[in-house]
Amino acid sequence: KILILDFGSQVTQLIARRVREAHVYCEVHPCDVSSDWVRSFAADGLLKGIILSGSHASVYADETDRAPEAIFDLGIPVLGICYGMQTMAQQLGGKVESGQQREFGHAQIQLHGDNHLLQGLGDANGQLQVWMSHGDKVTELPAGFKRMASTPSCPIAAFADEQRRFYGVQFHPEVTHTPLGHQILQRFVRDICGATPDWVMADYIAEAVEKIRAQVGDEEVILGLSGGVDSSVAAALIHRAIGDQLTCVFVDHGLLRKDEGKMVIDMFAGKLHANIVAVDASEQFLGHLQGVSDPEQKRKIIGREFVEVFKAEAARLKAGGQGHQGATFLAQGTIYPDVIESGGAKSKKAVTIKSHHNVGGLPEQLGLKLLEPLRELFKDEVRELGVALGLPPEMVYRHPFPGPGLGVRILGEIKKEYADLLREADAIFIEELRNFRDEAAGKTWYDLTSQAFTVFLPVKSVGVMGDGRTYEYVVALRAVQTSDFMTADWAELPYALLKKVSSRIINEVRGINRVTYDVSSKPPATIEWE
Ligand code: XMP
Repeated sequence: KILILDFGSQVTQLIARRVREAHVYCEVHPCDVSSDWVRSFAADGLLKGIILSGSHASVYADETDRAPEAIFDLGIPVLGICYGMQTMAQQLGGKVESGQQREFGHAQIQLHGDNHLLQGLGDANGQLQVWMSHGDKVTELPAGFKRMASTPSCPIAAFADEQRRFYGVQFHPEVTHTPLGHQILQRFVRDICGATPDWVMADYIAEAVEKIRAQVGDEEVILGLSGGVDSSVAAALIHRAIGDQLTCVFVDHGLLRKDEGKMVIDMFAGKLHANIVAVDASEQFLGHLQGVSDPEQKRKIIGREFVEVFKAEAARLKAGGQGHQGATFLAQGTIYPDVIESGGAKSKKAVTIKSHHNVGGLPEQLGLKLLEPLRELFKDEVRELGVALGLPPEMVYRHPFPGPGLGVRILGEIKKEYADLLREADAIFIEELRNFRDEAAGKTWYDLTSQAFTVFLPVKSVGVMGDGRTYEYVVALRAVQTSDFMTADWAELPYALLKKVSSRIINEVRGINRVTYDVSSKPPATIEWE
């Protein structure tokens, strides 16, 4: 395994992604863990290397983060990236100075001398294209180090002490703007650290199944199945491990996409033969939402009702009966980025843009133990796992769908009539995205977009159909491309696709006579409209 110490960079998770892509297991922990913690983490003999991430901070600032000293005494390789390289330099006796100019963006570095990390990666002139983002820089090498690369403004852009296997790079190998970055990280973890590339899904399933069986024993588990990727894959994995000891609860809040409930039940009850309790709570939800048009209030009501319905079902299942002894575990589809965000990263003062719908806090309220079998996995690993468990790829590679569902896609007050119109229009949009292929990319437009959906606007506009005047509702189509959902660009969908979708919606969905396309990026707009 590889340990990644997080100094608070936005892209630490990408380092972990790249290491996992090299099929090497890694964990991210905050940089302020103690030396004792590091020694005990390494005590099983499986720790093969350590990576220090970048940071926003300057090694100068008064209160700066240092790497735990023990990492330099374990006799295993260490790679410092950006701030990680600077703190390494400073802690080992080198010097760091604040640069006159910040270097930000693409850069060509000149490689020097032989070393195991960067050797042979340069072009004919020994240059390598990288992504830089720093103000401070290392100006004096610590004893035992040699320089590996330079740029005109940063004479020590990478360094190494090959004897001790300590490496530092000022650039960011983890981002895709450093084209050979994945190769550099792979070299570090596989060749320099000697970590075995044994992180593969098929083995993971067997291991995870054993772990779940050991944790659960002969007790029973309940799981809130939303139809989203994470809860579906968690359900499939737990079902593989303990079969009938798992019961899935699927709550229909009346704000699901077309045929969503049917699809989830067909899959889990029909194909996997899992126990599933489907609760149709749509009247209850829509009742509480009547007359409410404020987006935050709508989100809160949906979140609260969801917890209420789920709690009632969980209490019933906890009580047992009908051949059941009663559940003692609550399973959740928590994935690794959720774990890092809630535990590792330092608390940031963030404003609430939107209250996110989740069921956090439920296990304590219900007095249930938690089972979170996906805690170590990234989203794309979860998807890979889902396919390996036999879930259909169309389900596993679906666009994300927010917890409050169509509730945040019907602007203002929610009415059943609006939800029904929106479901039909949205289904047409998604169907056509799946039908339209981009031959050059070899993919459909559904796969070329990260998220696409239809928004219901509760305003009426005048139209003409045949000889008659119409006065009906408007929908907006939204399609975005993004890698992290923090920022997003609106997708440049082909006109032919937009044309087909528009004409189908207006012809097939009685009640809508106008279709618009949303050309706003995030920021300043958000992906959802509410
Ligand atoms: P925004 O609209 O904030 O959305 O740009 C970013 C991503 O988050 C999804 N989203 C949610 N997901 N519960 C969720 O599980 C929510 O309450 C929620 N609100 C927004 C949104 O669909 C997009 O993928």
